Amino acid sequence: MEKKCLCSTNPLDTISQEFKSILEAYPLGEAKALIPLLQTIQTNYGYLPKSMLSIVSYYLQVPLGQLYSVITFYNQFRLEPPGKIHIEVCTGAGCYVRGGNDLLRTLEAELGIRAGETSKDKLFTVETVSCLGACALAPVVRFGGTIYGRLQPKDIVRLLREYEARE
Ligand code: FES
Repeated sequence: MEKKCLCSTNPLDTISQEFKSILEAYPLGEAKALIPLLQTIQTNYGYLPKSMLSIVSYYLQVPLGQLYSVITFYNQFRLEPPGKIHIEVCTGAGCYVRGGNDLLRTLEAELGIRAGETSKDKLFTVETVSCLGACALAPVVRFGGTIYGRLQPKDIVRLLREYEARE
C-alpha cells in the first residue's frame, strides 16, 4: 500500500465549505481579525469547537496559546456546546439593586453550576448580561429567548420546572 505524505497538506483543504466561507471573510494572516472571527464562529456554531481553533490559529497566524488566552479572557466565548435552553440573568445596576444577584444564586444552586456553565443534562446554560433593555421590569431574566421581569427566586425555580417539563 502506498504511503501518503501529509506534510504538505493545507489545513484549509480539510474543513467544511461553510467554515471556509466564514474564514475567508477575514484577511489571511490578519491577527487583528481574531476577536471578530471568533465571534462569527460562535454565532454560527453556538460555541468555539476546538477543532476549528487550530485552523483559526493557522489562518490568522496567531499562536494557539495566545488564541486560548484571548478566549479565556473574554467571558463571551464558550468552548463547550451550549445547553438547549439559554438563560441570561441581568446583573446590570437596575436589576442588581432589585435582586438580580439573588436570581442568579438561586439558578446556580438549583442547577449545581456557576454562571457561564451548562447543566449536566445539557438542558440549561446560564450566563450573565449587563442589561437586557427591560430595566423597568427589573430584575429581569431571559429564559429561552423570552424576557421575564419582576422575578423573585421562587419564580425562577418555577420557570426551571416549567421548562424542564416541556423537554
Ligand atoms: Fe437589567 Fe437593564 S439593568 S434590564
